[in-house]
Amino acid sequence: MAGPVLAVDQGTSGTKALVVCPERGVVGTGFAEVRPRPLPGGLVEVDPEELYGSVLEAGRRALAEAGEPVTALGLANQGETVLAWDPHTGRPLTDALVWQDRRAESVCAGLAAHAEELRHMTGLPLDPYFAAPKMAWIRRHLTREGHVTTSDTWLVHRLTGARVTDAATASRTQLLDLDRTDWSPRALELYGLRDEALPEIVDNAAHVGTTGVFGPELPLTGLAVDQQAALLAQRVTEPGTAKCTYGTGAFLLADTGATPRRGTSGLAACVARRLGGRTDYCLDGQVYTAASAVRWLTDLGVLRGAADLDPTGATVPDAGGVTFVPALAGLAAPWWRGDLRGSLTGLGLDTTPGHLVRALCEGIAAQVAELADAAAADLGAPLTVLRVDGGLTRSALLMQTQADLLQRPVEVSALPDATALGVGALARLGADPALTLADALPDAGPAAVYEPRVSADEAGTRRARFRTAVDALLAAEPA
Ligand code: G3P
Repeated sequence: MAGPVLAVDQGTSGTKALVVCPERGVVGTGFAEVRPRPLPGGLVEVDPEELYGSVLEAGRRALAEAGEPVTALGLANQGETVLAWDPHTGRPLTDALVWQDRRAESVCAGLAAHAEELRHMTGLPLDPYFAAPKMAWIRRHLTREGHVTTSDTWLVHRLTGARVTDAATASRTQLLDLDRTDWSPRALELYGLRDEALPEIVDNAAHVGTTGVFGPELPLTGLAVDQQAALLAQRVTEPGTAKCTYGTGAFLLADTGATPRRGTSGLAACVARRLGGRTDYCLDGQVYTAASAVRWLTDLGVLRGAADLDPTGATVPDAGGVTFVPALAGLAAPWWRGDLRGSLTGLGLDTTPGHLVRALCEGIAAQVAELADAAAADLGAPLTVLRVDGGLTRSALLMQTQADLLQRPVEVSALPDATALGVGALARLGADPALTLADALPDAGPAAVYEPRVSADEAGTRRARFRTAVDALLAAEPA
């Protein structure tokens, strides 16, 4: 089935929708902002209706701009965000606990003795970032009514009435048996979730139902967690290649092929995609705060927004001795210390916004470099390439800093909305089984390539300074 598709990326800070035509590319775009609420104690909530409303608004805007009918719908989701909802009315029973929310620390603490067993079964370290601890927390503290699922299942149910999740999103819960790509009875037992009505796990390209919310009934044929959708759009489908998306957080995923490979360097192992029954896997590392750290500096009045990063950074030649560990929502892989908070050291009376901006770029880039090293260690060889996408790739300062600290070329995608394009490709594939994956994927070389401009020694010194700052946080007594 040829024809444009509506590709919707429901992300943490907003929903982006594209109308993608196989021949003419993107012919319509729409965006609707979402404002998650950060609360004291590391809590982050969002009204689920805001998520659903943003899907409708962004989708309708994209369709209005395109002014032409679409043949299928794809929906990418933010991964580990969960809520309880009423299967009869479709209404939420709780706020959505956003992936950044740390309140399920207590659930993880109670399972500490089973951390290794869970990691082996599911590929994921024990951390409240993932969905299962939040699901268990909701059951213990908020409600025993209705279904408790990741946000995709609820959104798809509101749109089509189906009750499904895709294999890649399911692999972000810590309830999936990574080898069988089916729910793990043992993991469900450990989390006290054995009696839950879990959604059916479907392929990433599959007809799951139809929706009339965008006009005439439209088949929903592509589903994916956002990072895996971007992985596909970036054509990171061979072991040794990796991508990093700089969104609210920064997420580095490296393809590991058809055999699940547990990380030994602190990375999560999860499903990259399941298509036609074949499962491909990836290693995944996270920097919890990237654009949200930029937003934080903006809210403090240091910046006027992300577009201001480069002009402000250009006012000074370097970070002026300032080191910023932007762990504003804790540290994820390879440290897994979500309880930690960020640090800013080396401040002086002469510190300017430019120094802070450069230190932030160094802090984000140094963490991504740690993740790339961890992926290389697990793969047994350095990554051949790092392809990058997401809003913050517009900052030449951040991208140059990334190439410098990584000591490898960084290829900036020409596809500014890789996540939506990835799930758009899945929607095409699900709507037309005659298509191959290669045919469905967008084809675009990099828009820019940043080569390292500093010596390996200089990069090593700067990374060592960052590690020392992280070590100081790790060594500090918990608050
Ligand atoms: O794991 C959470 C991540 O996938 C969210 O991505 O783009 O909404 O920041 P984004």
